[in-house]
Amino acid sequence: MKGLFITFEGNDGSGKSSVIETIKKELIDRGYDVIYSREPGGSRIAEKIRDVILDVNNVGMDPKTESLLYAASRREHIVKTILPALNEGKIVLCDRYLDSSLAYQGFARGIGMDKVYDMNLYATESLLPDLTLLICVSPEIGMNRIKQNQRGSLDRLEIEKMDFHKKVYNGYLEVQKKFPNRIVIVNGEASKEQVKKEALDIVINFIYKQVQ
Ligand code: TYD
Repeated sequence: MKGLFITFEGNDGSGKSSVIETIKKELIDRGYDVIYSREPGGSRIAEKIRDVILDVNNVGMDPKTESLLYAASRREHIVKTILPALNEGKIVLCDRYLDSSLAYQGFARGIGMDKVYDMNLYATESLLPDLTLLICVSPEIGMNRIKQNQRGSLDRLEIEKMDFHKKVYNGYLEVQKKFPNRIVIVNGEASKEQVKKEALDIVINFIYKQVQ
């Protein structure tokens, strides 16, 4: 089987990280060759760019600079980590990918989805995920969770005002409308167990369809 590229998206506090953890474990238990990665970051240079992007000292970064940095980090990530894994036939589970840029930079920062999409097609040589799970929670619930679970300090995107997080949420819904066949919405406000089960079922069914 050729590799599969599966991404997980959601506004801050959607709970996607623990969902990915569960799916990774289940797939490994079932004998699949799986790697986990995340954005921004996922390779040595991409992680350095991540530090610049999320640094709270960089408040006031120009939106296009921000957008270009995410795209640059993404390019490093696909060239160094994702494409080699896909070429080896692995299943790549990735926490955020280009849909994040469409929602956060395209919509919430107001650059425009089409512009950000074009820039990302250039950066990724049009590598789109095979499947994307969009885990949705209302921005209010998401930000409450972030504050309650806060371990370290909040990053530059998390300290944005509620208005920004609402735009991100609406942005994601628009992105899903643009790619209805690739992006499946999961209700992230259900119980943790339900969310994990629903997400796992979607991924397993998708994998089965590929081998049929
Ligand atoms: P991270 O700590 O990885 O957050 P999370 O656990 O929510 O995934 O921080 C990534 C932040 O960067 C998050 O607020 C979303 C944002 N982001 C963008 O704005 N554009 C992008 O293209 C990506 C990948 C992330």
